[in-house]
Amino acid sequence: MQHLSVKQQLDSFCKRKYFNLESSHYLNGAYMSPLPIVTESAGIEGMRRKRIPVHLTKDHFFLHKKLVRERFSQLLHINSPKNIALIPSVSYGLSIIANNTPCTFKKDIIVVEDEFPSVYYTWKKYSERHSAHLKIAKRPKAIENRGTAWTDTILNLIDENTHIISIGNIHWQDGSLFDLKRIAEKAHCFEALLVIDATQSAGVIDINVNELKPYALLASSYKTLLGPYSMAVGYFSDALCLGEPLEENWINRHRSDNFSELTQYQDQYREGAERFDVGESSNFILMPMLAESLKLLLNWGVNDIQHYCQYLSNYLVEKLRPFNIQLINNSERGSHYLGISISQFDLSMLNKVLSDANVIVSVRGNFMRVSLHAFNNIEDCDALVDALQYVLLKQENNILVSA
Ligand SMILES: Cc1ncc(COP(=O)(O)O)c(C=O)c1O
Repeated sequence: MQHLSVKQQLDSFCKRKYFNLESSHYLNGAYMSPLPIVTESAGIEGMRRKRIPVHLTKDHFFLHKKLVRERFSQLLHINSPKNIALIPSVSYGLSIIANNTPCTFKKDIIVVEDEFPSVYYTWKKYSERHSAHLKIAKRPKAIENRGTAWTDTILNLIDENTHIISIGNIHWQDGSLFDLKRIAEKAHCFEALLVIDATQSAGVIDINVNELKPYALLASSYKTLLGPYSMAVGYFSDALCLGEPLEENWINRHRSDNFSELTQYQDQYREGAERFDVGESSNFILMPMLAESLKLLLNWGVNDIQHYCQYLSNYLVEKLRPFNIQLINNSERGSHYLGISISQFDLSMLNKVLSDANVIVSVRGNFMRVSLHAFNNIEDCDALVDALQYVLLKQENNILVSA
């Protein structure tokens, strides 16, 4: 058998051939992931099925939902698909959680500074409604060891008054890595509820729900999960699974698969978190798409994807080192994320040069957000480095790039 070096093995891991990325250097999965080819095909098949709906059988109302529940629970290392709900967005899932979580004597809700708006607004409103205190864990000024320093700030806020901690594995703007294991441990010590937003991490960072024991975990489908827009998946712990859904739809009720007897109204919901599924969640186009994306991620292996992204981002960091760009240390950020401070760049020049080189990234807050996934390769990293080097050289020499 041919012996491959670690580098060759990592290079051969690249999954670009599963996508149709043409000539773009797409380093922007944190904004919106591209669709794998099999996912796109599943969507087209779903559309075609409705051309003559005789091809849409009763099974289609349930089959792909079951697959998504099974595959997402497998991704989280749990064997209880019944704890998974199929929802349209993270904000929808957060509303379910907020509506089903009473607030009595423990009044502190902890979120991080510059938290994603859907998360911030939910807990702000909750705090106003329940006279609770929204506590913001400030972003540390120093860049290098930001993940650890920020985790420490959060840990220092957790005490006997903490009711809820709502946080992601990483910060969505600069990629700072939060130590969820330590945060979960302290949260559980004080019986605080941990709500995880895994939108920027599920599928790229290995998340073990058995270990973290969150109250709930939510993830949009269209980023690291490589799925379609307008879909999200949520893990709801048993404590939440007896809660009130946001809506009363027919398919979430007991025996809804018995189409001829739907008006034998049922007081009981279907099992577990299924009561929280959004109306028309069978979505014959999007649900099969998400099922395909999850299958790919499971086949590739989350740990291997994470390892591969680490390899690419370490490569990027080494290449950027001579330019004195301040970066968060490798172990202190998500391995698929690099937040580059934009303060040192002429933004309009940077945008033009990146666009000419077909390098796609996004700017969030004060950071140029570079995000990696299994579809990226060394050429994408080189194209970004070349573009940044070009801009820095031009700036140094004070030369304008014509718009
Ligand atoms: C960290 C994070 N959470 C959640 C979302 C999506 O939220 P929603 O589904 O409410 O639109 C995004 C989208 O950019 C995000 O970056």
